[in-house]
Amino acid sequence: MNKFRILFCLLSTLQFISCQQGQKDAGPTKTEKVNCTIIKSAFGETPDGPVDIWQLKNNSNMEVHITNYGGIIQSIIVPDHNNKPVDVALGFETIDGYLAEHPYFGAIIGRYGNRIGKGVFTIDGTSYNLANNNGPNHLHGGVKGFDKVVWTGAGSINEEGQAQLVLQYYSKDGEEGYPGNLDAKVVYTLTQDNELKIEYLASTDQPTHVNLTNHSYFNLDGSSKVLDHVLRIAASRYTPVDNTLIPTRVLEEVANTPFDFINYKKIGAEIDSEDEQIDFGLGYDHNFVFDQPSMIEAVASVRSLQSGIEMRLFTEEPGVQFYTGNFLDGSITGKGGRVYGHRSALCLETQHFPDSPNQADFPSTLLLPGQEYSTTTIYSFHVIPDK
Ligand code: BGC
Repeated sequence: MNKFRILFCLLSTLQFISCQQGQKDAGPTKTEKVNCTIIKSAFGETPDGPVDIWQLKNNSNMEVHITNYGGIIQSIIVPDHNNKPVDVALGFETIDGYLAEHPYFGAIIGRYGNRIGKGVFTIDGTSYNLANNNGPNHLHGGVKGFDKVVWTGAGSINEEGQAQLVLQYYSKDGEEGYPGNLDAKVVYTLTQDNELKIEYLASTDQPTHVNLTNHSYFNLDGSSKVLDHVLRIAASRYTPVDNTLIPTRVLEEVANTPFDFINYKKIGAEIDSEDEQIDFGLGYDHNFVFDQPSMIEAVASVRSLQSGIEMRLFTEEPGVQFYTGNFLDGSITGKGGRVYGHRSALCLETQHFPDSPNQADFPSTLLLPGQEYSTTTIYSFHVIPDK
């Protein structure tokens, strides 16, 4: 974080809660050594009003900065093998970067993560037309998706002594073409074990489709490309796509294809293979089908041998969009003056499969009144032992 931001934060701090304070309010506890904090400060003005940014810190040298504009994770700072802090998330220093066009850096994606073919779906005989904001298809919730709205934010230290930010957004019936009033809530928690936990919750008053995710772009060592990062995804199958990136309804085996990440493999190893699917995605931009979603065993892990940082993914979602920043082209400059070039970051967006509203064989994304949408994903960071 640059010096001006630190000064700015100090001057404009509206709220500062430490673990000790949170614990004291809750009565004496055994966690005196705990040293986590959550600091709220002003982040700037948006067309929909002022927004804030919360810094969540734990006692293991990790911090996460999140704004209530789009629920965007602005920074994820973790120690590398030399205990040096590394910001592993792409983003901008100020709100202006986020108000300008950018490819969803760090944002909450809703109502529907990834594509819906031709921007149409039908529920109980009624067709709903969404914006086709990605060629012929609908992408990431439309023109003004959950990534561009102002969420209501409340930071606290929770009962387990963890810094936590609760974001809420009420999406009105008809917003971006989707039916039903949707009450959405996203809870970000930083644990003492260097895990960023994201809980997505929602309820509706009419049948609608929901598929929430987070669109953080990761680079674990600040290198100009992530092709030397090493990745494992516990997925024997993926959903191949047509040339507009809509799944073709089949689940394809990854074996003997560039999509085989069952064992650790360099991301760059086969990214330029002669393969129709690689051509369609301009690299990896595909939904992988987990063999078993799990909050116990990591469903994917990515590591940088340069920094020694490994990120592990745990999720209740059936799939993940693995995207290698193929559309980044150096036209965006982010934090610290870094130019975000082609394949300079990767995304692992946990999700239900793209176009599920139109593909009856895929796990359903339909949410009915009276049901609770509830799904959790954890991004967990640590240093690999031999580094
Ligand atoms: C999509 C890509 C898209 C990127 C940024 C990913 O989830 O699959 O095709 O370019 O998001 O919008």
